[in-house]
Amino acid sequence: MQARSESIRKQGKRIAFVPTMGFLHEGHCSLLKKGRVLGDDLVLSIFVNPTQFGPGEDYDAYPRDMEKDLQLAEREVVDAVFTPSREELYGSNFQTGIELEKLPNHLCGLSRPSHFQGVALVVTKLFHIVKPHVAIFGEKDYQQLAIIRQMVRDLDFDIQIEGGAIVREKDGLAMSSRNAYLSAEQRKTALCLFQALQKARKAVAQGETDTAKIINDMAFFIQSHPDTEIDYISICDPQTLDSVDRIQKSVLLALAVKVGKTRLIDNMILSP
Ligand code: PAF
Repeated sequence: MQARSESIRKQGKRIAFVPTMGFLHEGHCSLLKKGRVLGDDLVLSIFVNPTQFGPGEDYDAYPRDMEKDLQLAEREVVDAVFTPSREELYGSNFQTGIELEKLPNHLCGLSRPSHFQGVALVVTKLFHIVKPHVAIFGEKDYQQLAIIRQMVRDLDFDIQIEGGAIVREKDGLAMSSRNAYLSAEQRKTALCLFQALQKARKAVAQGETDTAKIINDMAFFIQSHPDTEIDYISICDPQTLDSVDRIQKSVLLALAVKVGKTRLIDNMILSP
């Protein structure tokens, strides 16, 4: 992969890179479409990264379908698909880690304490292997994108980082590979994340600025659905992810909710 990237670079071409864990859906395809526009050469990686799953999380169960992924890659006119094995990336004597001081101590990082270390590590490795000029990440994983932007700044990666807007099903559910875990009943329930975000957006449009009130109303609404467990609902600064009490400028509203055993996330930027 490194040799290929070197040769593409020597041809003066710009490499666009979309890292994924596979089980591709239209959300990933929208990132690939963006990559197609931003680069001359489009690389997709598919690797279910063990270091970003905590003990008891769904690493083994994570949905995989390489054949379908490769078909989608072809449809999106991807130039190369990088599918390393766990052994190739981590070997048997792997020792190095990457840690950020502040951004992981919010939102998903609180209930998934080692998750973002694992993400930062694998993204660093993929960047060194794929050598992209530009890399594209989905905005559904808002905190992940913020962390990657920070890491790229801190460690002087010469890579442009781009976000891709959340892609939703027709009824509003944010697309996610983990939606595959949902039963038909849970799939209906899962819509409450987006509906709660919309309720909050409406309240803010009508002048509400008290974040505790907005969060309480959202929690009440979500808890009225069966089989739900709120991990967090946060209204925070879009850069630092620190909570805010009053909405005076644009804020990030982010939430994670378990529907049955499936943990779903979603977010929206709210402007007063
Ligand atoms: O967003 C994902 O799919 C993963 O976290 C990523 C960025 C591919 C790293 O494994």
